[in-house]
Amino acid sequence: LLIGMPEMRQSSLVVVANRLPIDDSAAPDGACEWRRSPGGLGSALHPLLRHTPAAWVGWAGGTGPAPRLPDIDGVRMHTVPLSPEDLRDHYEGFANATLWPLYHDAVEQPEHHRRWWEAYQRVNRRFAEATAEVTEPGAVVWVQDYHLQLVPGLLRDLRPDLRIGFFLHVPFPPPELFMQLPRRAELLRGMLGADLIGFQRAQAAHNFAQLVAKVLELPATDRRIDVGDRAVRVGAFPVSIDTAEMAALAARPDVAARARRLRQDLGDPDRVILSVDRMDYTKGIEQRLKAYRELLAGGHVKVPHTVLVQVAVPSRERVGQYQILRDRVEHQVGRINGEFGRVGEPAIHYLTQPFDRAELAALYRIADVMAVTPLRDGMNLVAKEYVAARVDDTGALLLSEFAGAAAELPQAYQVNPHDLEGLKQGLLAALRADPTDAMRRMRAMRAHLRDNDIRAWARSYLSALDDGDSLLTRLTTA
Ligand code: ADP
Ligand code: G6P
Repeated sequence: LLIGMPEMRQSSLVVVANRLPIDDSAAPDGACEWRRSPGGLGSALHPLLRHTPAAWVGWAGGTGPAPRLPDIDGVRMHTVPLSPEDLRDHYEGFANATLWPLYHDAVEQPEHHRRWWEAYQRVNRRFAEATAEVTEPGAVVWVQDYHLQLVPGLLRDLRPDLRIGFFLHVPFPPPELFMQLPRRAELLRGMLGADLIGFQRAQAAHNFAQLVAKVLELPATDRRIDVGDRAVRVGAFPVSIDTAEMAALAARPDVAARARRLRQDLGDPDRVILSVDRMDYTKGIEQRLKAYRELLAGGHVKVPHTVLVQVAVPSRERVGQYQILRDRVEHQVGRINGEFGRVGEPAIHYLTQPFDRAELAALYRIADVMAVTPLRDGMNLVAKEYVAARVDDTGALLLSEFAGAAAELPQAYQVNPHDLEGLKQGLLAALRADPTDAMRRMRAMRAHLRDNDIRAWARSYLSALDDGDSLLTRLTTA
């Protein structure tokens, strides 16, 4: 694995994200095996950087010394180690039990602990130092997401020669929520170390500017903040997917054959509803199951004519709120299957395994209705992947108003997932959609995603950051 790995080469485009796009998992024979890790950030950036002269600084999962990794698809991987305390207090603590719930409308209660903040600072410093070491003079560094909000400021102190971008994949909350953070000023200052701060939606940029004006008393608009003699630009850059790649995958004969087989295995139902989520309380899984249960109980949908396939890959499994959620979801699934299933004909096909891209594409192909109903989501790439995979323009997307994707996909069947009746009506409307109307909607969404794919996203962000130099040209033509 390590043969030919050069010592500490420097790169001119460096992505810094808590997680590398790959994850170690045990192969059936017990050996260590690398696979693409589920999650929107990796899904977005992985196809973008492939075969470009870029580097990625991140954590490879696990604790202990950082493994040395070879280049993956031509991208240099620089691993940053986390100790068991870092994992507990930075990743599971401050990132995923303070910031994650707070940034998602506090749908679960955020916790505040001083020890977690210490770890957040320590780990952010480690990432900044690792990045400073592997980045060429004058290069572009693109820092990602809520785990690393202090990195732009720390990196600017270490390397004032760099162009630094920051992009937040999750929502940025309204001031009333953000103000709860004991160390709110430090977090804002950390982000302001960047030259360009990108959000998924304009509302987030607005929230950020308001907070900077209020907490740091700096002159701020939704587009520009003056920090001393430096101008920090702010904007909305909705992230996307590799639309053409997903469409090509879904059109592959083996994927089409796999989809036919899957449908047969489901008992050739009239209607397949599919949901694909990380097991996360922001995804609205419980609300969706409740709506489905009530539709079954009311006789509006019947097994085996209609079935639900729920893929929910476990995530952040040592965080208490995630453990509670998994137990509740599994209890609900068991109850619904017990009540409404028959031998060999479950009402819900429940899967917690990670799948490769071809299997996901086959699943998208069999979904007459794709139910994407998060309570809050920065973007939701699953919704976009589904649309991209509907190569015959059929199918209906049921989409929460609270997903970032809703702003771009007004033709979806949109619902408020907090409104149980509305959710049931939306699901029924999508199940009973008039084929001509559904096709018109799907075509419009597909056209939008063809133009607004992951490369368009990178192009707009990096040209704003970098004034379109050769690096960007290399990246977007790769
Ligand atoms: P989040 O970033 O919150 O996880 P997104 O919907 O934006 O939500 O992104 C999830 C990504 O993870 C998608 O690219 C999706 O295809 C992928 N994914 C979700 N579930 C699985 C799974 N079971 N196996 C493999 N990839 C998955
Ligand atoms: C979301 C976050 C990412 C994160 C991913 C998976 O997409 O925005 O930063 O990597 O979820 O979560 P995990 O905790 O497994 O990295």
